[in-house]
Amino acid sequence: MRKLTLGILLLLGFSGTVAAQGDVAAGQAKAAVCGACHGADGNSMVGSFPKLAGQNVAYLVKQMKDIKSGDRPVMTMTGQLDAFSDQDMLNVAAYFSSQTITLGKAKAELVELGEKLYRSGSKRKGVSACTACHSPTGSGNAPAGFPSLKGQHAEYTALQLKAFRSGERHNDAEKIMRDNAELLSDKDIEALASYISGLR
Ligand code: HEC
Ligand code: HEC
Repeated sequence: MRKLTLGILLLLGFSGTVAAQGDVAAGQAKAAVCGACHGADGNSMVGSFPKLAGQNVAYLVKQMKDIKSGDRPVMTMTGQLDAFSDQDMLNVAAYFSSQTITLGKAKAELVELGEKLYRSGSKRKGVSACTACHSPTGSGNAPAGFPSLKGQHAEYTALQLKAFRSGERHNDAEKIMRDNAELLSDKDIEALASYISGLR
């Protein structure tokens, strides 16, 4: 009996994961309106509009839900997700995630500070190493839903770090980002954002 229950649980768990797969083709069709700002392939041309290409599905879905509910206020996207079901979000996330991000280049004069903070954090200030959650290559941690950062516009990354620092963005569970960002100076943020844009 025990074995049977376990078998059923495993089966349910398994089909649960299958149902939670996005449909890339359906997502591409739905994503047409998003392309105006984020780029048809998720590589936005505007520094303050985030690239979505290659981002992990769990992170994209969480952000869409947070933006839709207002937990992460994004004025520019008002109304964009109102008609989106959970499945639509999953499909659009699967589409953008399947695309390849275009990489940037760090400013030479900011690499030293950016790399030091990214790889080791700052013991003096109490900043954690970004690598712990966002990986040494900046590709994040897909199973955990920790975002990929590599290749992102430096302007957007800096805006987010400042928004976490001020608390204007507060949709990070357990203040996981606010606790780090509040210890960063403008110079630290500029260096990190530049370094991250060139990560690969
Ligand atoms: C009018 C421009 C515009 C349109 C159209 C738009 N967005 Fe956005 N989107 C933005 C901006 C600007 C941000 C970042 C806001 C901020 O600074 O926090 C954003 C953020 C996001 C994020 C969070 C990205 C991250 O790295 O955290 C996701 C996901 C997203 N948009 C998905 C979509 C989807 C899906 C659509 C189409 C249904 C869409 N957006 C349409 C402007 C737009
Ligand atoms: C303990 C784990 C952890 C550490 C350490 C960490 N982050 Fe994060 N970071 C996260 C999580 C989780 C999110 C997504 C929060 C959410 O759900 O919106 C995030 C979000 C971000 C974002 C927003 C991405 C986007 O597309 O909007 C940036 C930028 C970022 N982190 C940069 C950094 C930098 C730079 C450092 C090092 C100083 C760092 N993080 C350290 C976990 C971490």
